[in-house]
Amino acid sequence: MRGKFVTFEGCEGSGKSTQLRYIGEYLKGAGIDFIMSREPGGSEISEDIRKIILNGKYTAMCDECEALLYAASRVQHIKEVIEPALAAGKLVVCDRYVDSSFAYQGYARGLGEEFIESINAFALKNYTPDLTIFLDISPNEAFARKHGADRTDRMESQGPEFHQKVYEGYMQLKKYPRFKCVDCRGTKEETAKKILELLKAENIIG
Ligand code: TYD
Repeated sequence: MRGKFVTFEGCEGSGKSTQLRYIGEYLKGAGIDFIMSREPGGSEISEDIRKIILNGKYTAMCDECEALLYAASRVQHIKEVIEPALAAGKLVVCDRYVDSSFAYQGYARGLGEEFIESINAFALKNYTPDLTIFLDISPNEAFARKHGADRTDRMESQGPEFHQKVYEGYMQLKKYPRFKCVDCRGTKEETAKKILELLKAENIIG
């Protein structure tokens, strides 16, 4: 049987990396056959594309190029990693996926939903996630919690207005039944518990 596909989304500072670590430990402990991957990246070629996208020296990169690079990295990741794992019946957990493109490039950059849909048609037609978990905290709250941002790569160094727009972009995605918000303003442990409950309620894990 084909495996399930779960993606995680969130704004910078939402605590996504910590939660993914917890989930990985839980899945391992529970003996569940899974892989954990990330976007942009997840395969050698896609990780190289990631380096180009996030390179701080490419200030001249146009929005369309950025969106297409994310989409290119995604197709390669699907063919090399996601598709084989799903076909082998594994649970695939991915840190960011096409919804990041909707929120960051489609909404915050202003390229629009249709453009993102068209360049991601391959992913959307064949590899729509079974469940997407959005770690819900506004960028302002996340920033305050983190005591400031790292501002290292090309995306992180965008101003607060951009990140607020990204959040608004994510809010538009609530129209998809697979897109579930988890309030992550509490402690790490509280959020981890909510995520596990959701994974169970959605029959992703037993
Ligand atoms: P990363 O360091 O993985 O960010 P995070 O730890 O916040 O997940 O960098 C990925 C960056 O790329 C992040 O700023 C979000 C952005 N991104 C897009 O803009 N569009 C996309 O389609 C994807 C997958 C990521």
